[in-house]
Amino acid sequence: MLGVETSCDDTAAAVLRDGSVILANLVSSQDQVHSPYGGVVPELASRQHIQSIVPIVDAALQTAAVAIQDLDGIAVTYGPGLVGSLLVGLSVAKGISFRWNIPYVGINHLEAHLLAIQLEEAVSFPYIALLASGGHTLLYCVRGVGEYVFLGGTRDDAAGEAYDKVAKMMGLGYPGGRAIDNLAKSGNAKAIRFPRARMKRSSYEFSFSGIKTSVWHYLKSQPREQWESNKADIAASFQEAVVDMLVRPTIKAALTIGVKRVVLSGGVAANSRLREKMKEMAAGESIETFFPAPKFCTDNAAMIALTGYYWLKRGRRDAFTLNADADLTL
Ligand code: KG4
Ligand code: ZN
Repeated sequence: MLGVETSCDDTAAAVLRDGSVILANLVSSQDQVHSPYGGVVPELASRQHIQSIVPIVDAALQTAAVAIQDLDGIAVTYGPGLVGSLLVGLSVAKGISFRWNIPYVGINHLEAHLLAIQLEEAVSFPYIALLASGGHTLLYCVRGVGEYVFLGGTRDDAAGEAYDKVAKMMGLGYPGGRAIDNLAKSGNAKAIRFPRARMKRSSYEFSFSGIKTSVWHYLKSQPREQWESNKADIAASFQEAVVDMLVRPTIKAALTIGVKRVVLSGGVAANSRLREKMKEMAAGESIETFFPAPKFCTDNAAMIALTGYYWLKRGRRDAFTLNADADLTL
């Protein structure tokens, strides 16, 4: 299986054998292109994908030592994401499929994140999956391939978006998640008590715009030199609040629904404190936790290839009329 992913700002290609052996998994990051703007510039992302896509597909096939005509299938993200970015990967996948007469399937990016853990370990269904990335914060009960029960999502910003915006305010560059994660390691998480959004008891909702605003007010309330000197404490305190807001509804869902397996996915799942705290809270309730390696948390094509493998095996084939869908839901 060849997997192709171009939904946002990473151009990625992977080759997977038998749904389990990753022969190649390459990502060409555009962080440097977007960094000066503090966020992804859609037009620049599409142009960059056009430059990178053919070389990266070629490199993945070469790394895997697989000839293009020997592929059994192609999987490509067709949504959700930036439409101009999605179209690049989708067009290339259709082109290869047409030229070599290889079946292809369009993949929902969110579904691929929910199944990414299966690249590394065979986690039994059902499981509670928290998908936290730059664009999404979603909680699902994954009952099997194609069986996703939506439990809740964010009312406003995504968790990764809050990380990126706070990092921007603090001049830590883009994307900011990893920078805050690293800085927080030397800070005191109890130094500042940032408020946690409190949701209705019965809901599994998230909200991150309040914490972002709180950090903004905190920074504005003092001269820059003053907060610069306790940057690590701010990062650690902000992170503790975000992690708290992610962990609580997830554990609550596992207990209420009675599914004692929790899986993390999405870029924010790479966060060291989130992993630590989720593990700690889950252990106290006899809940098992499963975390993909960071390279499978962030956008990658191996998870797309795997999801495509499942669907092709089930007989799905997509027509060339399939279009990119920026707002695709699960
Ligand atoms: O899944 P992903 O690669 O792309 C999207 O589909 O959005 O997630 C990217 C997001 C960014 O917001 C980035 O800041 C965040 O994941 N991120 C992190 C960490 N690594 C990446 N957030 C917190 N801690 C990290 N270590
Ligand atoms: Zn993603």
